[in-house]
Amino acid sequence: MAEQIIIQTSDKESVYKELLPQVKALLEGENDLIANMANFCGAYMEVFQILWVGFYLVKGNELVLGPYQGPIACTRIQIGKGVCGTSWKKKETIIVPDVEKFEGHITCSSLSKSEIVVPLFNEKKEVIAVLDIDSKELNTFDITDQNFLEEMVQLIRF
Ligand code: SME
Repeated sequence: MAEQIIIQTSDKESVYKELLPQVKALLEGENDLIANMANFCGAYMEVFQILWVGFYLVKGNELVLGPYQGPIACTRIQIGKGVCGTSWKKKETIIVPDVEKFEGHITCSSLSKSEIVVPLFNEKKEVIAVLDIDSKELNTFDITDQNFLEEMVQLIRF
């Protein structure tokens, strides 16, 4: 297993292209969901130094906080609530350029200005968790993040 993530470029797409195989190497050979989520967060934070990156796991009819890096966060989110609960309900990635303009956004940190939430699916196409990434800047996430993150979360085996 690699001891550190090494990135030599700076534009976002190239960074993701370098990061992707390293995350693959980091996670392959491990099938523990929590361990893989934890290392995913560590790798992402190491490279992007974002406000918050973490997972919420589907447990019954709510999302419960899982592995993350960043400030403390809300522990439970109901289906359809906030960006995370909406992503779960709609089974799709949601990009929020400005959290103040997303009706029902759940504020865990007043520093969060934009975010992206990506669902993780099992073989039956049920959502088993969501990845949530929060930024201190407006308009941080776009289709490049969506495409790479949707590919990267599929590397999380369980
Ligand atoms: N903002 C999220 C809640 C989770 S925290 O940002 C970590 C939401 O609206 O679902």
